[in-house]
Amino acid sequence: MSVPPRAATAVACANIALIKYWGKAADGENLPAVPSLSLTLDGLRTTTRVAFDASVDADELVLDGKPATGRPLERVAALLDTVRARAGIAERARVKSENSFATASGLASSASGFAALALAATRAAGLSLSAAELSALSRRSSASAARSVFGGYVALAARAEAAEPLLSGAAWPLCMLVVATTRAEKPVSSSEGMERTARTSPLYRAWVTHAPALFERARRALSLRDFDALGTAMQESTWMMHASMLAARPALRYFTPTTLCVIDRLHELRAENPAYFTMDAGPHVKVLTLAEHANALAGALRAVTGVKSVIVCSPGPGVALLDPAPPKPESES
Ligand code: PMV
Repeated sequence: MSVPPRAATAVACANIALIKYWGKAADGENLPAVPSLSLTLDGLRTTTRVAFDASVDADELVLDGKPATGRPLERVAALLDTVRARAGIAERARVKSENSFATASGLASSASGFAALALAATRAAGLSLSAAELSALSRRSSASAARSVFGGYVALAARAEAAEPLLSGAAWPLCMLVVATTRAEKPVSSSEGMERTARTSPLYRAWVTHAPALFERARRALSLRDFDALGTAMQESTWMMHASMLAARPALRYFTPTTLCVIDRLHELRAENPAYFTMDAGPHVKVLTLAEHANALAGALRAVTGVKSVIVCSPGPGVALLDPAPPKPESES
């Protein structure tokens, strides 16, 4: 029997939801209440190394060069506990994670972070999970992470354990511009925001009722490669999700005046450049466009007051190992 590898490194790309997930099913382990559809992006990456080490007493996390404690460390340790139980090992781990972009500010760092962690941790523990199993494992930590296991266009059905790939990025290479408006961390986490919306917003039920129809419209637009239909469904999903949050008590508003300035400027630029926007649990704007218009739009949006950076992203791949090592078959563990 081969000795299982004790360390592994994985890279995952963030994904941006074209059709939004907001709200958890009442029962189950972090199952989404609504279906979502995303695009995995090559420009936003997390690289995570996990090393199980008998000489450490507690799991350690270094995030972007700084030791992490509190909630971020607890969430990582919870995923590691699941992996340890499955692999039948007891060692604690040293985890080192680096993002190529700002963490916890609505730029989907939890999606790429937990997808990379799930692959690195399972391989370091000697397990070899299928993509669907990795997606289900990541989902328990962050439902959007279930989608980052796959490249291109990805669906996560309501109450689904795992995401499913719908279409490769190469089959429809649209571009997404990530327009960052601040480097600050978000004040209310998405989990807390969803819980508050579900508990207090009179619009939450309407959101959950309407979300499946938006998802079906987007799925159809994807199969027809209908850019306007996809973009329109994306914007409707975005506003409907944010409307449900605005009606929470106290109201939850992630967008800022700069966010709205970017959206207004985009409306002007649309005369020449087909484009649609979305925004998540943060003040940034993500713009879906055709590859031939990406650079012109990026240049114009960089000039909007308050914009910190614009990252031009193409469809990205699914999670992958950086230093592949032969896995120990699960049956041996
Ligand atoms: O998976 P979480 O807890 O990071 O929530 C993601 C929520 C949104 O980004 C706002 C929407 C989505 O579908 O990604």
